[in-house]
Amino acid sequence: MSRSYYIAGNWKMHKTRAEAAELAKALVAQLKDGKHKYLVAPSFTSLETVGAIVKGTNIRLGAQNMAAEEIGAHTGEVSVLQLKDLGVQTVILGHSERRHNYKEDNALINKKVKLALQHGLEVILCVGELLEEREAGKAESVCETQTVKGLEGVPASELGKIVIAYEPVWAIGTGKTATPEDADAIHAYIRKVVGKLYGDAAAENIIIQYGGSVKAENAAQLMGKENIDGALVGGAALKADTFVPIAKFG
Ligand code: 13P
Repeated sequence: MSRSYYIAGNWKMHKTRAEAAELAKALVAQLKDGKHKYLVAPSFTSLETVGAIVKGTNIRLGAQNMAAEEIGAHTGEVSVLQLKDLGVQTVILGHSERRHNYKEDNALINKKVKLALQHGLEVILCVGELLEEREAGKAESVCETQTVKGLEGVPASELGKIVIAYEPVWAIGTGKTATPEDADAIHAYIRKVVGKLYGDAAAENIIIQYGGSVKAENAAQLMGKENIDGALVGGAALKADTFVPIAKFG
């Protein structure tokens, strides 16, 4: 198995440039001997500042979203070309806050995924069910649809640049974490879905992060599960004191 752990911090709509710089500097210093793969995704406004700090370190620079078009009359959007210009290496797409609060559908997310890959970016594709979908027994089918539709038209040769993040919506920012067993079951299911699309080797190699109230206290247990290959961390990623112990778990 060639999977390695990948711990990412999604800073969402937090931090001024000065605050982002302070956190980025602390992470560079404290994670320099870290054994896993790392990423920070600040707001667009802090990408240049944080990019200059993490450049050449073991921390990748990620964006939290991206336009579905390359260039043109799209007021308020940010293009893949502009992200690349700032040194962005990875883009988070299909986050539940984009899907549910900003009505991004699978078709739009798929368009973004393909555009990001075309430009050589790594993609963290987020999938996950709402509480009512889980209670209706639909967690697997929702994640399957989001995975299949998100990856539509993505050739096998590009799959190495795809990371999937399973983020059950009911666990995001709520303090409710999926149990490691429940999360692992969905991760295994997603892996099977990838296997059906791309074959066993691809399924075995794809990194599937868990996201939703990950903290130092539950990180090792979650990532100890066979199918959980890392974490996409929100709230606990906003301070070095809370992110570093997750990033250095194990
Ligand atoms: P929390 O860790 O705050 O639950 O957020 C998870 C998340 O949405 C990361 O993308």
